[in-house]
Order: sequence, then C-alpha cells, then structure tokens
Amino acid sequence: MSWFKREIAEGVTLVRILNTKLPRFENFWPIPNGTSYNFYVVEGSEGTALIDGADYRFSKEFFEALESVVKVEDLRYVITQHTEPDHSGTLAEVMRRAEEAVLLGTKQALSIGEALADFPMDRAREVKDGDEVSLGNKTLRFVLSPMVHWPDTMLTYLVEDSILFTCDLFGSHGASDKVFYDEAPDSFELVDYYASILMPYHAMAAKAVAKTRELSPKIVAPSHGALHREIEGLLSMYERWTSWKPLKKALIVVGSQYENTARAAEAAAEGLREVGLEIVIVDSAEADPDDLLAHTLEAAAILVATSTHNGHPFLGVTFYLDLLREYRPKNKVAAVLGSFGWGGGGTRAVKKELEALAIPVVDELTFKGRPKEGDLDRARELGRRLGEEALKLL
Ligand code: FEO
Repeated sequence: MSWFKREIAEGVTLVRILNTKLPRFENFWPIPNGTSYNFYVVEGSEGTALIDGADYRFSKEFFEALESVVKVEDLRYVITQHTEPDHSGTLAEVMRRAEEAVLLGTKQALSIGEALADFPMDRAREVKDGDEVSLGNKTLRFVLSPMVHWPDTMLTYLVEDSILFTCDLFGSHGASDKVFYDEAPDSFELVDYYASILMPYHAMAAKAVAKTRELSPKIVAPSHGALHREIEGLLSMYERWTSWKPLKKALIVVGSQYENTARAAEAAAEGLREVGLEIVIVDSAEADPDDLLAHTLEAAAILVATSTHNGHPFLGVTFYLDLLREYRPKNKVAAVLGSFGWGGGGTRAVKKELEALAIPVVDELTFKGRPKEGDLDRARELGRRLGEEALKLL
C-alpha cells in the first residue's frame, strides 16, 4: 500500500502518501529513504475540512485515500496552507468534485495558487492571521507564517484538540509507516529537511517556532513525515537551528584528486580531535547536497580541503561553495588547506569566497604535490587552531 490513514484524535484523520518512486525531492534533493505527503481530514458536527493536498503525480493514491475517509463532494472547506505543488497539486480537482466547498488560504496563497495550481477563484476566500472557521464542535484558527517556506504559508490550529498543522515546518523526509517521531526517532531526517528547505528562512522559521511555543499544542502535524507529541524536544532542536547555535562538531569537506589533499585533511582532523571536536569528513565528489547543508548547519568549524583544478578549487568544492552562497550559514569559523601541482589558486579562491560570506578563515595551508612531514605537522596545527576558535562559538 502506498498510503495509509490513522485517526490522531476523534474526527481528525491523518492520511500519508508514501513516495518511494521519485529518487529526488524537488527533483534535486536525494531521498534514499523516500518522502511522504501528509494531509488531514477534520470532521466537525457541522462540516468537514481538508487540510492540504499532495503532489499531482500521486493523484490516484490521493483520491483513493481521501475517498476512504470522506465523500469528496461533502467537503465544506479545503484549506491550502502553502501552494508549492507537493501540497497543492491535487486541490483543483478536489474543488472541481466538491462543488459546494470553499477554498481557504492566505492572500499570497490564493494569488500563487491561481497561477500554479488552477485554484477556482470564485470559491476562494482569503484568511488573515487569527481568523477562525467553525465546523460546529471543532474550530480551526489560522496562524500566518510567511516565508516558511514561501510567502503564502500559514499554520492551522485545531483549538479543541490542540493540534497544530504546520505544513513544511517541522517536516522530515522518509517514507515511514510510523505516525509519530517518538516511535522511530531519526533526527538526521529532521535536520536534513530543515537545512535544505527552511534554513534560508531561519528568521521567519524562528517566529513560527515562537508562535508554536505560545500555542503549546499537544500534537504538531506537518505535511511531510513524522508527527510530534514530544513538543519540547522538537522546539528546542528548532530553536538551536534557527538561532545558529552549533554543536561541538567540525565538518571537513574534501576535494582531492590523488589523495594528497585528503592526507593533509586527515592530519588536520587529528588536530581538531585533539581539542575535542567531533569530526565529519565528507567527500565533495559524492556528497548529497542536503547532507552537506545539514552538517554545515550543525558544525562550529568548517575545514575546506581542496586541490587546485585548472586554477580553481576542486569541482565538488566549487559546488559546496555554491550551496553556501545560497544558504548563507552563520556562526562558523573555517580553515582551508590543499595541494597544487604548479600555479595553485584553489585554496586562495575558497578563502576569498568564505570571507565574502562572513565566515572567518583562521588559517590557510597550501603545499606543492604530496604533503611532506612538515606539511602534515602544519595541517595538524591548523586543525588545532581551527578547533580552538570553534570552541569559542559554543
Ligand atoms: Fe512541502 Fe514547500 O512544500
């Protein structure tokens, strides 16, 4: 079965569509464990609401699952929390079948959704922050949350059951049949998701996290992945990420053609370990971009080890720098090292790029060809120095 449903409170059903057939999310981020689209049906004494849809490529599963919970034509409200096609792709067809339904979304959601998701504007109604709709014995309150992840985004609070539906916020990848995070905790799926999808919007995510803390919901119900009922741990984790508080950790990104740069990176890792940092070494030639971002988010120290290739950094390192330029991590220190064959230039270019991103570079080591014993000693010293500076950020 590629979907399942579960009642998470009386009259509140989670439906999860499991995506194990697309290799990448947004056709870019690798999802080796798949991903999922959650949507929710809330049945009150005087009406039923659907919260979010799914990617149109899963329309068959979506309608099969939805029809198993409610007759589509009986829906009174269709709520779009965010119009990215992974959540809005099936909603035009829902509205076509549910002829009496009213579509609810923010002003931005209705504007984007008209262009992107064929929303029927004659039955669309804008909601503002704090607006409520009543389903009889259940009340839905809208909490605007722009730029988490698009300007259209809102959260929906089910007052009587204390459930907060959060769309992308607090989402995670993985196509799991476990409903709640505490049933099979995997913090890397959470950090990986936050780093690749929400990190550029950290300031707005922080506001949404603060609103979540104010509401103090019993259940947090995102539209991707696991639901949460241990709320304090989730909020603490998000508060650490959105405030850029790193862990006692160093990320070493290696771009090395013939292992000369890699050997010096190993020596630097010894220095970092000596001052007590946990080390993650990633080969830039094969790293998943979301993993690179997740490790970057959590690291206090970043060591970029790059050989020089045609006068430039190693190509995998160039790609890493592209990621940093777009995602702009904060509160890090860095160092750079690498081998060159004749003219050099790789480490110099990386240093310049990191400094332009306001990431201080505490040391740079460059050497010709194979690292000699003296080069390795220098690399160890570079690692120690980087580690000591990183500890000051904690
Ligand atoms: Fe899951 Fe930004 O959509």
